[in-house]
Amino acid sequence: MTLSKAYWAQRWITGWALAWRVASRFIAGETVEQAIRAVQVLNQQGLLATLDQLGENTQTAQDAEVAAQGILNLLDEIERTGVQANVSVKLSQLGLVVDPPLAEKHIRRIVEKARQTNNFIRVDMEDSSLTDSTLDIVSALHEEGLTNVGTVIQSYLYRSVEDTRRLIEQGVKIRLVKGAYQEPPHLAYPRKRDVDAAFDRLSDLLIEASLGLEYSRATASGRFPPLAAIATHDEKRIEYAIQTAKRYGLPVERLEFQMLYGIRRDLQVELAKQGYPVRIYVPFGTHWYPYFMRRLAERPANLWFFVSNLFQR
Ligand code: FDA
Repeated sequence: MTLSKAYWAQRWITGWALAWRVASRFIAGETVEQAIRAVQVLNQQGLLATLDQLGENTQTAQDAEVAAQGILNLLDEIERTGVQANVSVKLSQLGLVVDPPLAEKHIRRIVEKARQTNNFIRVDMEDSSLTDSTLDIVSALHEEGLTNVGTVIQSYLYRSVEDTRRLIEQGVKIRLVKGAYQEPPHLAYPRKRDVDAAFDRLSDLLIEASLGLEYSRATASGRFPPLAAIATHDEKRIEYAIQTAKRYGLPVERLEFQMLYGIRRDLQVELAKQGYPVRIYVPFGTHWYPYFMRRLAERPANLWFFVSNLFQR
C-alpha cells in the first residue's frame, strides 16, 4: 500500500471510530442487551422508552426477513426483562421500497406478536415518497382490529392536517414531529417558523381529540401511549402543548412527550417530574449511519463538533 493510501485508510478508520464515538451519544449500543440496559436506566429515572432497531431502505427479501426477526426477538426481550418500552419500526426496513406487500406481511406479524405480548408498535414516518403507503398500511391494520399500532405525523407536510383528522377519526395513536427529511417546497413548508406554527396547530387538534377518549389501564402500563404524543425538544412547542392541555383540562397523564435518546436529558427528566409520561426514542444496532447523519443535519453544532475533531487528529 502506498503511503498516501495508508494515510487515507488510517484517516477513514479514525473517522469511522470518531463517528461512532460521536454517534454513541445518540445511539444506545449495537446490541439488544445494550439497548435494554439503556432502557432500564431510563425507567429508573421515571422515563418510558420506544426501542428502534436501526435499519432502513432494505433492498432484498432476505434482509427484510432478518430485520423482521430482529424486531420479533426484541419484543420477546422486552417481555422477558419487563422494561417499560414499546417498539418503533420503519417500514422501509421491512422492504416497503422494493416490495410493499412483503413489508405489510412483516409489519402484520410484528403487530400481532406485539398484541400477544401486550405491547404497542409505532410505525415511524419516512420521506414523502412513503407517506401514502405507510398511512394506508397502518390504517388497514387498525381497521382489522390491530389497534396496538400507531404512526407519526410530520408538521412540515402541507397534507398533515387532513391526515391527522383522518387518523383521529379512526382512533389511531399519533406521534407528532416536525419532520427530518429533505422535502421539496411544493410538499413541505420550507421555513422553520411555518413548520413550528403547523406543529402548534396539530397539537391543538390532537389535544382536543384526546378529551373525548377513555383513558385505559393499558395506557397506564407504560407501553401504550395516549392518543397524543408530542415529540420535540423545542421548548416553545412543549410549552404551547402544556398550556393548550391545561386550557382544555386534559389530565397530565394523557399528554405524552417524546424525545430522542441523548438530546435534552434535563428537559426529559423535568417533564417527567411534572407528571407527564415522557418516552425516549432509543435507537440501537449496527445500521446507525443514516440516523446519525439526520441528527448531525438537524444541528450545525453537532456537525461542527464532529468535523473539528476529525481534523484535529
Ligand atoms: P428543532 O429542530 O427546532 O430543535 C429544538 C431544539 O432541540 C434545538 O434548539 C436543540 O436544543 C435541540 N435539538 C434538536 N435536534 C437536535 C440534535 N440533533 N442534536 C442536539 N440537539 C438537538 N422525524 C420523522 O421525520 N419521522 C419520524 O418518525 C420521527 N420520529 C421521531 C421520534 C421522536 C421521539 C422525536 C423526538 C423525533 C422524531 N423525528 C422524526 C425527528 C423530528 O422530525 C425532528 O427532526 C427532530 O425532533 C428535531 O426537531 P425538534 O422538534 O427537536 O425541533
